[in-house]
Amino acid sequence: MSSAQRQEYLNALGLQTWTLRTSGAAVAASIAASPVPTAGPLVESAAAPAVGPEVAAPREAAYDWPQLRERVATCTRCGLSATRTQTVFGVGNLQAEWLVVGEAPGADEDRQGEPFVGRAGQLLNSMLRAIGLAREQVYIANVLKCRPPQNRDPLPKEAGQCLPFLDRQIALLRPKIMLVVGRIAAQNLLHTDAKVGTLRQQVHTFGPAHVPLVVTYHPAYLLRSPAEKRKAWEDLKFAREVFARG
Ligand code: URA
Repeated sequence: MSSAQRQEYLNALGLQTWTLRTSGAAVAASIAASPVPTAGPLVESAAAPAVGPEVAAPREAAYDWPQLRERVATCTRCGLSATRTQTVFGVGNLQAEWLVVGEAPGADEDRQGEPFVGRAGQLLNSMLRAIGLAREQVYIANVLKCRPPQNRDPLPKEAGQCLPFLDRQIALLRPKIMLVVGRIAAQNLLHTDAKVGTLRQQVHTFGPAHVPLVVTYHPAYLLRSPAEKRKAWEDLKFAREVFARG
């Protein structure tokens, strides 16, 4: 990636604003050259909690991509099916090595049927580009496939009923790394109550394939709290290093 491109991506993330005493180019160079944090210890995710009969042996565990997409599109497992415009299955390259997991569709996603297409999605695209990834190169999905009304937090029961779909997406995709954005997604995938500030900068693993999983802040949170973008940039570099390590 050329330094001009990197400057553009860092600008898009708002990262140039922190080092006011140097020129933009020098700041970009210093951020780009900053040491990648050493990947921390491997943290195994907690054992999956006991699940009810509804999700213990989901039929979708054997579905291929088209079957799964159709199953999600017609799902009425929880009350969110009554208020959605449409389901938001996921988008991206089915050969992707990177899987990005968010929380749930918002209003824009509910309208367009694609994850991360609103303002948070624009920032997510910039975050990915900052580590050399095009949106088209990765796969993007959410824990929930339907929008919660008024963008409220998903209820544990809703997440529990929807997660088998994401489990199957992960099994079909077989990503080399998962980048999990935000508290809700991280807590649901790692079966923890810990906050992002505690979970970030560690290598967790997901599922029987022990997919390396890195947690960072949700782009919507970063839009509200731009001072945290610096930490997100550290997390992105960390994830890139974990991926490179294989
Ligand atoms: N926030 C999310 O977590 N997912 C989306 O798809 C959009 C916003």
